[in-house]
Amino acid sequence: MAIRNIGGEELEEQRLFMQRVRAVTHVWDHKPLAYTHSYGCQQNVSDSEKLDGMLEKMGFGFTDTPEKADLVLYNTCAVRENAENRVFGNVGALKVLKRRSPDMVIAVCGCMVQQEHIAERMKQRFPYVDLIFGTHVMHKFPELLYSIYEKRERVISIPECDGVVAEGIPVRRTSGFRASVPIMYGCNNYCTYCIVPKVRGRERSREPEAVISEVRELTEGGCKEILLLGQNVNSYGNGSEVSFPELLRRLDALEGDFVISFMTSHPKDCSHELIDVIVDSRHISHHLHLPVQSGSDRILKLMNRHYDTARYLELVDYARSRIEDIQLTTDIIVGFPGETYEDFTKTLDLMRRVKYDSAFTFIYSKRAGTKAAEMDDPISDEEKGRWFRELLDVQGAIGEKAYERYVGRTMRVLCEGRGRTDETLLTGKSRQNIIVDFAGSDDLIGKFVDIKITKALPWALVGKQCNS
Ligand code: 5AD
Ligand code: SF4
Repeated sequence: MAIRNIGGEELEEQRLFMQRVRAVTHVWDHKPLAYTHSYGCQQNVSDSEKLDGMLEKMGFGFTDTPEKADLVLYNTCAVRENAENRVFGNVGALKVLKRRSPDMVIAVCGCMVQQEHIAERMKQRFPYVDLIFGTHVMHKFPELLYSIYEKRERVISIPECDGVVAEGIPVRRTSGFRASVPIMYGCNNYCTYCIVPKVRGRERSREPEAVISEVRELTEGGCKEILLLGQNVNSYGNGSEVSFPELLRRLDALEGDFVISFMTSHPKDCSHELIDVIVDSRHISHHLHLPVQSGSDRILKLMNRHYDTARYLELVDYARSRIEDIQLTTDIIVGFPGETYEDFTKTLDLMRRVKYDSAFTFIYSKRAGTKAAEMDDPISDEEKGRWFRELLDVQGAIGEKAYERYVGRTMRVLCEGRGRTDETLLTGKSRQNIIVDFAGSDDLIGKFVDIKITKALPWALVGKQCNS
């Protein structure tokens, strides 16, 4: 498939639309305000930073309540049904606001509306939604918005045009010292349960030079934590000269004081080479998020995952033997069509064997248009619920103790701000991507601090600043 790089002329065109929107809102008696919300994964958060960046260039300020907004934008997720239901609920709740302020523009974009049947439902059920646009035309947001202001007609744009990589879109980052950088878009794996390849299209990688210069610019500008994003970062480059380990090597050669983390890794493409690059690196995080999905080889085959538990465990053992302090996390799906209790107990066995530091666990959600949606699924929701609770109990007991191995160590922690649950403490992340809480003054925010770990909680570490 040919990859079409969007930049230059096409973005120039969008810049003109940004100016036109600016000219429209300029005559208002107030600065236009946008409320934007992103559902789902980090990739969506990253896309929203671009949508916000474009809004900023169009003269918008931001508000944290839809009530005060001239424009509400929901960037949606399609991975599971409950995420979609939440969007339907939230869009439904805007009806009252729209009645009160008919000039308010309501826009819904992203993965969920890239599915035809959902876009249709959105269109019928919510006639007051002004703009619906899919994942492949995100960079055209200024043009689409201008067309609404100009014609005051509903705009729906969900083309199937695949293979687009847009460079140079303005970004509004929410943190001065943390940034996410997409390295690739889409997915070619076709795990049978997953809607992502359908809504985000075929896999395409950004040019290594584009990634490296973005990271360089960020770190030279004071950014301390870079998160590289892709549905399957391990297949970055798609067989070209710069593979993912090579990209990491080149990024690691950049000067400065910063940490680079990445997600998500697919076990089928995760190599010893990748782990070796981490071992020898200065900047790369000691965290591997390696979604296993199931501990049953039969189910892994039905999921089309292209690895078995033996291969998975070999990787985990290699990672643990080479990077002694590595944090290992995973994703697990319970109740895949045809899964039996016996299959499920194999997942529990694998969890006990690996002893994950934490696991993101999901009950299988049927996604229209995927292969799994056509498979027989005889187990009831109640039964799956029981299995799910059992899984939570098993992981709960493992997670309770998992961080204890870090107690007594000194860790370099990037201080991110005041604690969410305890304002008296500062909070930050270690090189293993573990939350660390400690006492200290606000001037440490955005800096690396050495912390001696004194206590382990199931979700975080607690410590004391060294020499304080
Ligand atoms: N149902 C439940 N969980 C899913 N995931 C992806 N698709 C589905 C689905 N249909 C989970 C996988 C993936 C994570 C991002 O979401 O575990 O790794
Ligand atoms: Fe979905 Fe599999 Fe691609 Fe992940 S790797 S996005 S689970 S198809």
